[in-house]
Amino acid sequence: MNNDLASEVRRKVDIVDIIGERIPLTARGKNFFGVCPFHDDSNPSMSVSREKQIYTCFSCHATGNVFTFLMDYEHIDFKEALHYLGEKVGVDVSNISLKKKSSKNDKLYEAYDFSVKYFQNNLSSSVGREAKKYLATRNIDDDVIKEFQIGLSLSTYDDLTKLLVKKKYDLTTLNNIGLSSDDHDIYNDRIMFPLYDVAGSVVGFSGRIYKDVSQNKYLNTKETSIFKKGEILYHYHIAKEECRLKKCVIVMEGFMDVIRASTIGIRNTVALMGTALTKQQIQLLKRLSSNIILCLDGDEAGVHATLGIGDSLLEQGIEVKVISLPDDDDPDTFILKHGENRFLGLVDSALHFSDFKIKKLREQVDFRSDEEKVSYINTVLKEAIKIDDPIHIEVMLKKLAKEFDIGYNTLEIRYNDLKSENKSKKAVSQLEIPKRQVVKKDKYIKAVEQILYFMLNNDWVISQVESEHLVLPNEQSRVLSSEIIYYYKKYGVITVADFYTYIQDKEDILELLNGILAGDYNETTTKDELFLYFSVVRDYGVKQEIKRLTNSMKKEVDPLEQAKIVEKIRKLRMGE
Ligand code: UTP
Ligand code: MN
Repeated sequence: MNNDLASEVRRKVDIVDIIGERIPLTARGKNFFGVCPFHDDSNPSMSVSREKQIYTCFSCHATGNVFTFLMDYEHIDFKEALHYLGEKVGVDVSNISLKKKSSKNDKLYEAYDFSVKYFQNNLSSSVGREAKKYLATRNIDDDVIKEFQIGLSLSTYDDLTKLLVKKKYDLTTLNNIGLSSDDHDIYNDRIMFPLYDVAGSVVGFSGRIYKDVSQNKYLNTKETSIFKKGEILYHYHIAKEECRLKKCVIVMEGFMDVIRASTIGIRNTVALMGTALTKQQIQLLKRLSSNIILCLDGDEAGVHATLGIGDSLLEQGIEVKVISLPDDDDPDTFILKHGENRFLGLVDSALHFSDFKIKKLREQVDFRSDEEKVSYINTVLKEAIKIDDPIHIEVMLKKLAKEFDIGYNTLEIRYNDLKSENKSKKAVSQLEIPKRQVVKKDKYIKAVEQILYFMLNNDWVISQVESEHLVLPNEQSRVLSSEIIYYYKKYGVITVADFYTYIQDKEDILELLNGILAGDYNETTTKDELFLYFSVVRDYGVKQEIKRLTNSMKKEVDPLEQAKIVEKIRKLRMGE
């Protein structure tokens, strides 16, 4: 393993910087706090320790060092994380080979990679002439075709299936992975757009008709073990870097929109591939940026979806803006008609979501009815209390006052009432750093975990555990303690952050370690206290042994053997 290299790199980076580049962190006491990116949350439940170089989420218990954070956050493997950080801090990592390790889904990915090439080949050959012509009418040139790996499925019924069977894929597999149905191809005579997962591997296709208009416009791959539509966003793997540079992400409906934006150099974009947004996709968006710009289609469905999606993003504490397009445009057609500068103008002048929502509400108000007017004013005030920026709020209230000829003070009083009502509702649960979850644990389990935690933080405790021949009462904890001892002997020191790298592939003990780190344990101890914990553990061991012997005695038929067991139990009870 790359243990020495890993600890060298780890020592040179500060986990607070690396996590802080990705999620906003606030210093509080010794630690830093941020919204945990690994579960659905809007409270700062993740703490990052500069001193220990680890992070812990009180809520979902995600725990680890700088490597595990990057692996989980960026969806990369250990070597990639090590490589990335090594380059960042100037440690020579050129020897690390970044070949992907094999997984049970390898064959699926291979089948998709193969199909991509096959479809691409069709499009560039003479059978693809008509499809190419269609693409040209939509201003999709060869560069774009290449960049987005666009291809063509044939009307031959079973070409792809036959080729894949030749490559030793059986029909059941091909059916399961969504490339064949019975013994024929699923996609017939469609322009093929590969769909990528968050790491950038092709996991599915969307096939578009280009001449037969009687069929569904797009045909998508069914859900498979690698293609889960609700868990991907089109273009995520490319947008990742771009969003960091541009400090925002633009969300569109269709991948054609994203492809078009890319042709004018706008690449901090993702497509929902429809108008639904799942919880998992919200998590993904949060990882791209905390500034989200919605740019859905200009039609009624697009506006409706914008209102719904905007609300659910706002709930997550995300800054949301909206680009409104003309009714009959989507980003693709708008850019084609008006070009780069006009589109960039729209991005710059994107409305705050609240202003967009108010604008849309206003369109529905019948201004002859006092009742509707009052209800509208109240709705605007309710939107205003969601806004953090005091200047923005004042502008809103002034506008409202002028428009309806109401005193500014009247509006302000109502605003303040609503605000304090809302605050008292929220104060109980939100906006505070959540307390660690207190899970009631058995005192033996507590003792075991406390001892392990001491071992990780105090060298001398490791020696005590060894010299006292302490045997921990279950397999997992025994393995963890012997790994700690082994690591300490090998490296002469132990720090949790490095130990993490060492055990990262050992899933069963990783789980135990995470539990311990997320628990509320003391870091240092005295010998007296330590021995108290030892005796709790030994007590437990004895009880277990007595239990085991009692059970075996019940099964024993030979009276002589039975007597022997009774004697053993007696001795144990006496503490001999
Ligand atoms: P749109 O109908 O807005 O597609 O659907 P588009 O991007 O404008 O495509 P063009 O310009 O007509 O070629 C948005 C997204 O909804 C999904 C697709 O993923 C598409 O990108 N969709 C749409 C389907 O899955 N099936 C359909 O029949 C239509
Ligand atoms: Mn379109």
